[in-house]
Amino acid sequence: MEVSFRDYWYIACESHELKKDQVLGRKILDEWIVLFRDEKGNPRAFQDRCIHRNSQLSKGWVKDGQLQCSYHGWIFDGKGQLKNIPSEGPNQKKVGNRCAVTYEAVEEDRFIFVRLNKNPDNLTEPFRSPKYNAPGFETVRLFNVFKNSVINCAENYIDVPHTVFVHDKIFRDALDEEINCIVHRKEGMVEIEYLGESDNLGWFSWFLNPRKVPIVHIDSYYAPNITSVKYIIDKKEFWITSQSIPISEHETWVWTDLTYNFGHPIINKLSRPIVKYQGQSVIDQDIVVLDNQAEVIKKYGEQFSNATADVVHVLIESLYNAIKEGKNPKDIADKRVEVKFWI
Ligand code: FES
Ligand SMILES: [Fe+2]
Repeated sequence: MEVSFRDYWYIACESHELKKDQVLGRKILDEWIVLFRDEKGNPRAFQDRCIHRNSQLSKGWVKDGQLQCSYHGWIFDGKGQLKNIPSEGPNQKKVGNRCAVTYEAVEEDRFIFVRLNKNPDNLTEPFRSPKYNAPGFETVRLFNVFKNSVINCAENYIDVPHTVFVHDKIFRDALDEEINCIVHRKEGMVEIEYLGESDNLGWFSWFLNPRKVPIVHIDSYYAPNITSVKYIIDKKEFWITSQSIPISEHETWVWTDLTYNFGHPIINKLSRPIVKYQGQSVIDQDIVVLDNQAEVIKKYGEQFSNATADVVHVLIESLYNAIKEGKNPKDIADKRVEVKFWI
């Protein structure tokens, strides 16, 4: 079976957004989806279209874990099975064996993930944020909407050269620093390991790296839509994991987990508002740039011209484009390049 973007698990909502007896309409890959919880509290996802006269099921309501359409009141159970046609009265023989269009839904790490297509040739798992709920770690979760494609969003989160311009001072200082890294494409992912970075963390260097020790910094992209940035700085650990959800071609919803351990539970707790404020400020700056990039691409089409550092983009796009062509990104050959650039 050809691989497609529909084979992957995408976050549909956070657990707290889907309360008991609540109905939620969402969009993933241009597909309309209705979410609710069945009688056991498990999340369920159907196509947001009633099989009767095609009203939107998300306009309906949930009773005892069953979803009722708002137009003529047809009732579906958690598995999507039609259970009741009110206009048939006490004789429900007509109900028969009819079913809504259903998708798989699972709940992990306070997210509800949906998969549109189960492909036996490309079995996938929901992505678990590294160190989420790990002992000693704290997570600040952010949500943002970008008016750009999944791939441009994902690439931005691990694009280093823009940080000195877009996030001047907040995140990095322009230091004219030579950066060396190893870029490795393998098994459907691209990993970028930065070598010998020690001080380029902007104004919070004094806290994160007062002794100016070398930083461990590894960025990872997992095709098609996930990036994870890992910093280990003088025993402090900081992970930035972003799941970019393709709502439509020009809209991407992004959940970002800022997961960190600054060495002490009280420091971790007290740091929450600062981490949240800093993280959101950085993302706000990216939103401006990415929304603008999308406007230009809409007008003139997408045509890039690369510098040395852009090998990261090229390798990421090679995996993303593999899926576009129906190929499994895990089958794309390994490639390892050493790259030097300046920021
Ligand atoms: S359209 Fe849903 S019950 Fe008629
Ligand atoms: Fe950025």
